[in-house]
Amino acid sequence: MKLWGGRFKTEESKLMEDFNSSLKFDKVMYFEDIQGSIAHVKMLYKSNILTKDESDTLIKGLNEILQEIEFGKLKIQGDYEDIHSFVEINLVKKVGDVGKKLHTARSRNDQVAVDMRMYTKRNALEIVDSIQHLQDVIKDKADKNNYIMPGYTHLQRAQIVTFKYHLMAYYNMFERDKKRMLNSLSLMNESPLGCCALAGTTYDIDREYTCDLLDFDKPIDNYLDGVSDRDYIIEIISNMSIAMMHLSRLSEEIILFSSKEFEFIKISDAYSTGSSIMPQKKNPDAAELIRGKTGRVYGSLMSILTTMKGLPLAYNKDMQEDKEVFFDSIKTTLSCLNVMSNMIDTVTVNKENMMKAVKHGFLNATEVADYLVNHGMAFRDSHKVVGEIVLYCEEKSIAIEDMSIDEFKKFSDLFDESIYEFIDYDNILKKGIKKEIAE
Ligand code: ARG
Repeated sequence: MKLWGGRFKTEESKLMEDFNSSLKFDKVMYFEDIQGSIAHVKMLYKSNILTKDESDTLIKGLNEILQEIEFGKLKIQGDYEDIHSFVEINLVKKVGDVGKKLHTARSRNDQVAVDMRMYTKRNALEIVDSIQHLQDVIKDKADKNNYIMPGYTHLQRAQIVTFKYHLMAYYNMFERDKKRMLNSLSLMNESPLGCCALAGTTYDIDREYTCDLLDFDKPIDNYLDGVSDRDYIIEIISNMSIAMMHLSRLSEEIILFSSKEFEFIKISDAYSTGSSIMPQKKNPDAAELIRGKTGRVYGSLMSILTTMKGLPLAYNKDMQEDKEVFFDSIKTTLSCLNVMSNMIDTVTVNKENMMKAVKHGFLNATEVADYLVNHGMAFRDSHKVVGEIVLYCEEKSIAIEDMSIDEFKKFSDLFDESIYEFIDYDNILKKGIKKEIAE
C-alpha cells in the first residue's frame, strides 16, 4: 500500500509503518485531496501532458471514489501511509494503469500543502459563521434585557452599566475575532500546487489554471516557501486561541453571575449538570468545559509553534504534526461556539437582583462627586467628601440616595434637593457620553 519502494532492499517495519502513517487523522481531508487531484488532472490535460481520454478516466474515477466515501461504501482505513496514498492507490485499483499517471508533475509536498489550505479555508469560514451566530444570539439577549446592573473593576462594584451593554462588550470582541479570521484567510489564499517537492518541475505546467480552479487568489511565488509554509495554520490557531480566550472570559462571568452569591442570571437546566452526592447542586459544567478547553487550544498553538521553530527548508516530516492539533482546535472551537450560543440563548436574567447589587454598591458615588464639581468644588476635594459619605452610609447600612437632605448638607453645603434627581440611576444613564450605555 505504498507510493514508493523501488530503491529499498528490505521491507519497512510494521512499527515504522504505524508510526509514520497519518491516515487516522488526515482522512478528514479526503474531499480536499480529491478536489485538488481533479484540478491537477484538468491542468495536465490542458498542458498536453495527459490525453483527453486519460483525463476523463481519472476524473471519473476520482469522482466515484468521492461518492463511495461519502455513501460509506469505501471506508478510509487500512495500511496506507496517508490520505494521498489512499486516494491514489484506490484510483489505480479502480481505473487500472492510467491511474499511475495522476501524480505526474506533483509531489505529496505540494499536494498536502494545497489540501491543508483548502481545508483551512472551509473550516475557518465555518468558524466565522458560528461566531456570527453567537453574535446574533448575544445581540438578541442583550436587546431583551436592557436592565441596570453593576459594572465592575477589580471585581468590585464600580459604576452602573446595563446588562445589555455588558453583554455587547463580548459582541465587539467576537466581531474582532471574525475579522481576524477573515484577514488571515485573505493572507493565506495562495496556491502551492505545482511547487512540487521543492523545486518545481520540468513539465510546462499551468499553475495559474489550478489556482483558478481551486479558488485561490494567486500561485505562491517561491516553491520552497510554498511547500514548507505553515504560518497560516499558526495564525488560524492563534485566532482560535483569542476567540477561545473571549469564550473563556464569558464563561467565567456566566459561572460567577449564576452563582448564589450573585444570582444575576440563571443557566437553563439543559446546559447544567447535577452532583452525584449533593442533591441541591446545579453546576455550570458547560461554561466550565469551555473555560477548560481554552487551555487545550492554547496548547495546540504552542505545539505547532515549537514544531516549526527549527525546521530547515523545505518540507520535513515534522510538519505532519501540524494536523492533529489543527483539526482538534477547529473541532474544539466550533463545539464551544455552538454550546455557548445555545447556553446564552436559554439564560434568564434577574433584573431585581442586579438592582439590589447596584443599591448596595454605592454605584452613584462618582456622580455625587460630579455633582459637587458642578457646584464649584474641585474634583479631588469632592472625591474626599464623597468617600466620607460612603463610610457614613456603610456604617448605617443605607444607600447614598437614602440620606436626608440634612444629612447631605452635613458633608457639604453645596448639596440641595436637586442631588436626588442627579444621582437617580436611570437619570445617570441619560447624561453625557453615558447615553450610549442606556440605548
Ligand atoms: N502525511 C504527510 C504530511 O502530512 C504528507 C506529505 C508527505 N510528504 C513526504 N515527502 N513524505 O505532511
